[in-house]
Amino acid sequence: MAKRPEWLDNAVFYEIYPQSFADSNGDGTGDLPGITEKLSYIRELGCTAVWLNPCFESPFLDAGYDISDYCRIAPRYGTNEDMYELFRRAHELGMHVLLDLVPGHTSWEHPWFRESMKAEENEYTHRYVWTDSVWTEPQGYASLRGISQRDGSCVVNFFTHQPALNYGFFQPEQPWQQSMDSPGAIATREAMKDIMRFWLSKGCDGFRADMAGSLVKNDPDSEGTIALWQDIRSFLDEEFPDAALISEWGEPDKSLAGGFHMDFLLHFGPSHYNDLFRCEKPFFSGKGSAAEFVKKYRENYDRTDGKGLICIPSGNHDMDRLARSLHGDSLKLAFAFLLSMPGAPYIYYGDEIGMRYVENIPSVEGGYGRTGSRSPMQWDRTANAGFSSAPAEKLYIPLDPDPDRPTVSGQMADPHSLYSEVRRLIALRHATPALQSTGKIEFICDGSEGQPLVYTRSTASQKILVIINPTDRSFKYRASGDIIYSLGKVTSDRDGIEVPAVGAAFCNAE
Ligand code: GLC
Repeated sequence: MAKRPEWLDNAVFYEIYPQSFADSNGDGTGDLPGITEKLSYIRELGCTAVWLNPCFESPFLDAGYDISDYCRIAPRYGTNEDMYELFRRAHELGMHVLLDLVPGHTSWEHPWFRESMKAEENEYTHRYVWTDSVWTEPQGYASLRGISQRDGSCVVNFFTHQPALNYGFFQPEQPWQQSMDSPGAIATREAMKDIMRFWLSKGCDGFRADMAGSLVKNDPDSEGTIALWQDIRSFLDEEFPDAALISEWGEPDKSLAGGFHMDFLLHFGPSHYNDLFRCEKPFFSGKGSAAEFVKKYRENYDRTDGKGLICIPSGNHDMDRLARSLHGDSLKLAFAFLLSMPGAPYIYYGDEIGMRYVENIPSVEGGYGRTGSRSPMQWDRTANAGFSSAPAEKLYIPLDPDPDRPTVSGQMADPHSLYSEVRRLIALRHATPALQSTGKIEFICDGSEGQPLVYTRSTASQKILVIINPTDRSFKYRASGDIIYSLGKVTSDRDGIEVPAVGAAFCNAE
């Protein structure tokens, strides 16, 4: 079992989409010095760690998830030195920084792929997953064909321009399918370790691993991929024991067995995460049910308890903004939930002020429908919402055009804003061990349609009762204890605690 770096026990993460956070040089695209300058804002909100989406050299056909040099910062974001400076500043503030590791594929412009396309055998011939003839399509996988001198089709992982790196097949079935321990597959794995070594030795604190569950092919139960990550984990344990790893996998029972410290619940996969926030009748709108989510969560929790953290993000760069489906106090309630659950919470930049999904804008850098969730951070009411001094038409993605769009400065000045609520909730979490990453959870009511969600969080010496009521009726729960947090007008008497419609209460329980 992977040892967990201690700093994760009370970490609250903030995800930064570097293109859209803060532009320090006025070219319309966010950059690293911009982020460094804003770290104190994130710290003040209460977050103790950040995850940066990829900021490496890339042709940006998938916003940087198509890397052409893993060890070089893309010039539009600054230099490698700027990244080291960001690490230094974060550490000074007592924060940690995770970079995005994209182990599954590169850009088709990566020098490895250029070499791999050559007919003549070389060091990179087996770096990617190739069939033995351009006429042989890899069954069950999309492929890239007809652009190489080499006779073969190359498996792609996501978009056509993202050829799949070769980690082998768990069960090779065709002559061209290599095993996990073939020299080519081992060399890819070692190359990925070298990339991790490079950034960790410069001050990086760990990685979010992109599409982590997809590395080994023909691996229906993920046994091969789990073994691969276990090997990476033991390398980290040996060389960088404080480095943290979180997976984009969405199946904690598998990823945590692979040695990840944390796994995300996501908008895809079996978790029912969408039932809560993003579906026709989300639980937090008061019209839906959390029951399926809770059922699945419990299963995952029981299977993984103690092995690692199940992390529930407020959103990310791939899904609709939380504020597309939830509004007003429902958003506050969603945060009361997110910040009182086990695992490390992840806040997507701008969600703390309720930034909206920007409708009907053209796709930028392979974003398609995701583009509306990637618009520039809204700092204040100056030009371009304080994001950039560039002319508006040069912004990476257009701003939310609403003149009443929420801003950081407006919300910081308002004690009743979403920002203030989120800040309060994070501060409470920091002050209350039972609410932190490893405090135990027991569900009492599972949030079936029309019902609240009720659970306790506990350590050996503390127990907190949490009542989350998104429905349109008040709810009385038979319990007593000091109320340590309330959303809405919560009252308590001898018969129990009454939580109003769209309200919440946390109280000390015995
Ligand atoms: C992940 C990323 C997404 C990217 C894809 C391909 O899902 O989060 O943004 O497009 O992988 O790398």
